[in-house]
Amino acid sequence: SVSLEVLPDAGALAVRAADWIARRIRARPDLSVLVATGNTPMPTYARLAELVAGGELDASRVTAVQLDEYLGLEPDDPRSLRAWMNRTFVRPLGITRVVPLDDPATFGAALARLGGLDLAILGLGPNGHLGFNEPPSPPDAPTRTLALTPESLQSNRAYWQGLAVPTHAITAGMDVILAARETLLLVGGAHKRDILRRALHGPETPDVPASFLRRTALTVLADREAAP
Ligand code: GLP
Repeated sequence: SVSLEVLPDAGALAVRAADWIARRIRARPDLSVLVATGNTPMPTYARLAELVAGGELDASRVTAVQLDEYLGLEPDDPRSLRAWMNRTFVRPLGITRVVPLDDPATFGAALARLGGLDLAILGLGPNGHLGFNEPPSPPDAPTRTLALTPESLQSNRAYWQGLAVPTHAITAGMDVILAARETLLLVGGAHKRDILRRALHGPETPDVPASFLRRTALTVLADREAAP
């Protein structure tokens, strides 16, 4: 099932998304959440941090699960996606339980111990990727390492100044994402409109990995520029 909600701008999207996530945490304080980095969810995480700081939300029992990571980085590398997740989601929300994505076997075992994911918070790659499930990725694509596409190398350059984008990555598999009990896709900007339209209304195809999200209990929050 798909629920699409269009918000007027990025600020309104962040408020709505944070409220949506906060409601899930209040209903299930030990929520297990797959956490996307990237630019889109940052205002949402900042809003969630405000709710926590203001005493309106206790997220201390949440488990944060890492979605993706570049390969070959030192832990203190400014490009580390785990460091990004810790800085913008884990620490500001007072979370102490984290499932890191280091290797597929350990990650899979940790997810099994958790009893699976309650929620996946996702951004939409400009080429339709989820995490680093680059096209083509079928719905059963497992957690794995892979080479990034030229398109992702290009779009990820926006994350820092002057540092190369690593060429290889590890990603939670499509199988992991699609097994989440709920999925939340956050999409903003005119440059995402066409790929969002294909994800929601085009054929389900490995060429647009996000198209398989329609098989899940999916909520899409998009700003007006990205609305298909
Ligand atoms: C990146 C990341 C994803 C992210 C997506 C969208 O390459 N691997 O985890 O969700 O692409 O990023 P952004 O929100 O910056 O557009």
